[in-house]
This record gives sequence, structure tokens and C-alpha cells, in this order.
Amino acid sequence: MKDLTPDGAILDPIETASRDEIAALQLERMKWSLRHAYDNAPFYRERFDSAGVHPDDLTSLADLAKFPFTTKQDLRDTYPFGMFAVPRERIARIHASSGTTGKPTVVGYTQNDVDMWADMVARSIRASGGRAGDICHVAYGYGLFTGGLGAHYGAERLGCTVVPVSGGMTERQVTLISDFRPDIIMVTPSYMLSILDEFRRQGRDPRESSLKVGIFGAEPWSNAMRREIEEAFDMHAVDIYGLSEVMGPGVANECVETKDGLHIWEDHFYPEVIDPETGEVLPDGEMGELVFTTLTKEGLPIIRYRTRDLTRLHPGTARSMRRMEKITGRSDDMIILRGVNVFPTQIEEQLLKCAGLAPHFQIELISVDRMDAMIVHAEAAESHAGAEARAAQSRDLAHHVKSVVGVTAKVEVHDPGAIARSEGKAKRVVDNRTRG
Ligand code: DLL
Repeated sequence: MKDLTPDGAILDPIETASRDEIAALQLERMKWSLRHAYDNAPFYRERFDSAGVHPDDLTSLADLAKFPFTTKQDLRDTYPFGMFAVPRERIARIHASSGTTGKPTVVGYTQNDVDMWADMVARSIRASGGRAGDICHVAYGYGLFTGGLGAHYGAERLGCTVVPVSGGMTERQVTLISDFRPDIIMVTPSYMLSILDEFRRQGRDPRESSLKVGIFGAEPWSNAMRREIEEAFDMHAVDIYGLSEVMGPGVANECVETKDGLHIWEDHFYPEVIDPETGEVLPDGEMGELVFTTLTKEGLPIIRYRTRDLTRLHPGTARSMRRMEKITGRSDDMIILRGVNVFPTQIEEQLLKCAGLAPHFQIELISVDRMDAMIVHAEAAESHAGAEARAAQSRDLAHHVKSVVGVTAKVEVHDPGAIARSEGKAKRVVDNRTRG
């Protein structure tokens, strides 16, 4: 793999500023953001008033803990535009997340917000090892989802040649990668696996592709998956994080030279980690729910947004800004099986240890005698498609899951190609439990 470490001279000065400088900037911006939300969004004025707090109560960053949280439900309750803090005419762009239940959550950006977002994605691509002049293949979905357009504007801002392919039509993805010879691909990790399958189906060697780096996010993925993809394509695989309520992709990104968690672009997004039960702010290093406050956003300032994502904060390494550990999962995706907490990424890690299995899987939850049970649907690799090899793989994976994750799972190994392929965010869990 190519060394893609950036020359320090091309970084934004704030990326290597002292912690004191970062904190001073954050405090100044946080005061502005609270004031902007209070003065211009009736939702926040009501919230702050009923919690008995006022923007003037913030004199240190720690004072943020006095302010109330914001949740996805708040965005639903104010659907569609009720949380905007500027007149609708000043909103230059709308995005929305479909959500699995209920109304979509709608977010809005002013032109300044769209510009800041492009800057942060450009910074993310640079941290990933991308440079001006690179060709960037964007296979995140375009549309209301923030992935495609977010990646697109950032890649343009950095000075890349952008190929706006969007998700789907996997055969064409591979043709375009082979013909246009991109340096960078931006796509969900699960869809990258579908693209990998297609490379092989077409008889092309993925290690011979032009790709130097993949910037993967929008869903949890394990370090085992990183190794799988890096090995298959002979390229770097780095993690990009974001969420539409806070902005979209580019809230945090790994640095290619360290790959040790995601540096949060703290000059625009202030992170806290809280105890999800009590709401209490936890010290850096402790695992909990990630909460974000935007420091510069105009259209939809977000104050203490509960992401439901579980991680912990660490000091910076390749940059001065703090890192968040690779996300294991969301509290909503956590499966509780006979008292043991399980995340799909833990199953993924075990599955990738089994050389006879393809990297695709789905978890099905069922009820057996009114107890919850888990079936892992896996898929035989072409080389291990025979009945005996499959039985052995099934035993192997069940054993790893039991001994490492600590739960009993039934493993069904299906024919090669049997597991539904992702074209965006993979659906890892199917809940077929009977209620009552
Ligand atoms: O998924 C934004 C995005 C697009 C991020 C492209 C990265 C790349 P939403 O659809 O609002 O926005 O979903 C946000 O996806 O709260 C996490 O649960 C999950 N997520 C996003 N990035 C990661 C990641 C986009 N790198 C939700 N690792 C978030 C784990 C991620 N989970």
C-alpha cells in the first residue's frame, strides 16, 4: 500500500493547534451557537426556558452540561422545518433521513453551512490520504441521504475530479473503476464488499485496481472488515463518520497514517460522551453515548444531540483534535440475548475469522419457547461450497461466537450469493421474534 501521509504544510492550522487554542475557539463559538439557537429557534428558546438555563449561563465548555439534550424525536415533533433558526428562504439545501419508523427527520443548510460541510469533507478526504488532482469515485447514494452530495461537494472542494456514480448498478461501478482509474472510492463498507464480488465475477483482480484509498462509513464496520478490504484491494481503508442531524459525512475521520480512531473536527462539532441511563457527562476514555453540539451551523443549530452511537473519546494523535473510537454500534442496534449485549460488528469480527465464509451476513432474531434466539445467516465462499465444508464452517463460527462473544447462535451457511447484497447501508438484523 502506498504511503499517503500528508505533508503537514497542507493541513488547516487548527488541525495542529494547541489544545488551549482549540478550547478558546470552541468556547467563543459555543457561546455564539447557544445564543443563535435561543434567539432564532423558538424550539430552543422554549427548551432552555423550561430547563431554567440561558445562553449567558455558559462561561466555560463544561457549562454545556447544564443545557438540555436534543433527540431525534424533537426533529420528528417539529417536522418538517420547525427547528430551523433562519427564515426558510435562507435555506439553500434540504436533506432527510428516511428512518425505519415514523416521519423522516428533515435538516436544512444555509449556503454558509453547505460551504463549511464541503470544507470538513475536504479535510476528511485529505486526512484519508486524498489530494487535489485525485479522481474520486463517489458510490454513496445521492439524494435526500447526505452521503452522496456530502462526499461530492467535499471532493470538489479539495480539488478532486469527482465521478458521481451514486449507489447501485454494481456491474457498472466495476466498469467505471476499471476505465476511469480512480484513486479514491467513497462508499459504505458493505457495498464495497458487493463491488469486490463483482470484480471477481468479472474475472478482474481487485489488487490491480487503481484505488489507493477507500473512505468508508454510514454504518458500523469492524477492524476485521478493514483488514479484509485492505487485503483484497491492496489499498487503505479509513473510517468516515457523520450523521444528518449534525451535518452528514465528515464530522470525524480517521487519519491514514495512524488509523487509530476518528479525529473529530472539533472546531465545528463539540463532542461529549454521556451515560445513556443518567445523562451524566463521562470523562474522556469512558464508553458511553456520543452527543454533539454544532458550533457554527446556521440553518439548524443542534445543541447536545443524542446520537445513540456508542464510543469513547481519546486524546489526539495525528491531529490535535480528540479522537472517537471506531463505533461498535448504536444503542438501538444492540441485541440483548439472554442478558448478554451483542452488536452485529462482534458477529462480523468472528465471521471474518472463518476463511471458508464470504464476508456477507445477516442476523435473524426468533423466539423459541418464548425465549429470544439468534440465527446467523452466513454464506459459503466459492471454495467451500460443499456440504461438508459448510457444516464445518457452521460449527466453527458458532464456536467463535460462543467463546468470544459469549452467546449461543445457530449458524446457517447458505449457498454462495444467497445473502442479500447491500447497495448502501446493510440491514444486519431481521427481527422475527413473536411478541406477547
Ligand atoms: O450515514 C452520514 C454519512 C454518510 C456518514 C456517508 C459517513 C458516510 P445518517 O443517515 O443520518 O447519516 O446516519 C447516521 O449512521 O448516527 C451512525 O449510527 C451511523 N454511522 C455513520 N457513520 C458511521 C461510521 C450518515 N463511520 C448514523 N461508523 C450515525 C459507524 C456510522 N456508524
